[in-house]
Amino acid sequence: MSDKLSIVILAAGKGSRMKSDKAKVLHLISGKPMLFHIIKASKKISDDISVVVAHQKERVIQEMQRYFDDINFIEQDAVNYPGTGGAVMNISAKHEKILVLNGDMPLITPEALEGFISCDSDIIMSIFNLENPDGYGRVIISDVGVEYIVEQKDASEDELKVTHVNAGIYSFKKSVLERYLPKLSNNNAQKEYYLTDIVALAKADGLSIEPLLVDEERFKGVNSKADLASAEVIMQDKIKEAWMAKGVTMQLPSTIYIQESVNFEGECIIENGVRITGDSHIINSHIKAHSVIEDSVVINSDVGPMGHLRPLSDISDTHIGNFVEVKKSTLKGVKAGHLSYIGDASIDKGSNIGAGTITCNYDGKNKHKTTIGKNVFIGSDTQIVAPCVIEDDVIIAAGTTVSADAVEKGSLAISRTKMVKKENFFYKFFGKK
Ligand code: UD1
Ligand code: CA
Repeated sequence: MSDKLSIVILAAGKGSRMKSDKAKVLHLISGKPMLFHIIKASKKISDDISVVVAHQKERVIQEMQRYFDDINFIEQDAVNYPGTGGAVMNISAKHEKILVLNGDMPLITPEALEGFISCDSDIIMSIFNLENPDGYGRVIISDVGVEYIVEQKDASEDELKVTHVNAGIYSFKKSVLERYLPKLSNNNAQKEYYLTDIVALAKADGLSIEPLLVDEERFKGVNSKADLASAEVIMQDKIKEAWMAKGVTMQLPSTIYIQESVNFEGECIIENGVRITGDSHIINSHIKAHSVIEDSVVINSDVGPMGHLRPLSDISDTHIGNFVEVKKSTLKGVKAGHLSYIGDASIDKGSNIGAGTITCNYDGKNKHKTTIGKNVFIGSDTQIVAPCVIEDDVIIAAGTTVSADAVEKGSLAISRTKMVKKENFFYKFFGKK
């Protein structure tokens, strides 16, 4: 943690290239808003973080306050001073050195920002070299160093050919911002106040400008849905590599999606096509191909293939087989092997849930609970109309609709219409071939 550095994150822009009603910085990567990832990385290196807001400011502030309680929010006068230069005009910073980050760089890491802390120039700016520089500001460099930055929309044909681009992270001495921000003009294609114009102004006065070569993998800017998707791939690789390094087995990891907030412990195997989201916690378990787990706890269990644990499922010592959906239920030591819906239920040790069992938890108005005790055997194709308590050591015969509020310990519940057999009915109906 540097005690000398303030961080300002620019998050006031509309992000029109996202073609979305949602502010750009709130688009999700691995389950969290882009801005969340940047603030999280920033907090590791600074004790003074400000986020500049304007477009959808209430929503942006509210979202971030869910995760952080020690961030300053500063409002940009985006009507009179639009642009990245306008965005820093109202800031106040605790420290003499100010690191400015674009709010659309979700892949940034604290280590990647190291270079901005150690160097002491008036301006340090990030540059990367791209085969296809499309969309970025071009950095014009001469024999004596950085000359100026020109935005794509303002660039001449020759300037467009330049492949050194501005990555969008800078550190400024506070005095540099104070001196040059008032001198910015909006005389450009977008009629905006560009923060990047400070570079040419400072250069003309002989200030020191240090270019820092960075990699696209961590400094990538997200401007479009295609950028969002490729940033997601990079973030996912990072998340999965970290879990594999801690001992999680992943088969075909490129097909697995694990959100930022998911946790693993012990010996876990994750097969291809699995999606695990929210505050899920997986301990010593095997998640088989194409299962989906949302906000759930799985301990010493196996799920899938094609199992679905919806939010607030709590599974331990349990087997969940294919096409079983569980929602907001606690299963301890249970077998539910095939084709079932278990919602708002709790099921205890030794119970077996037959294929096609459905807890009818919703009556059209309210949700109701199903409680199943120990060693209950539930035959296939059973409906349990909730609320219902099935006590220990009960057998529910296949095909039963359990419509009682309770089935007492040790009993059998069976509801079937009597089966009849009609001899030679087939031939009467279809005729003899
Ligand atoms: C900016 C740089 C460009 C660089 C690129 C790197 C400028 C003028 N251009 O361009 O040189 O190559 O980043 O990714 O800085 N924002 C505000 N208020 C505004 C406008 C934008 O806070 O009025 C915020 C946005 O929310 C965003 C960031 O600033 O997080 C960058 O804005 P964006 O419009 O994405 O800039 P680029 O065109 O990508
Ligand atoms: Ca951008």
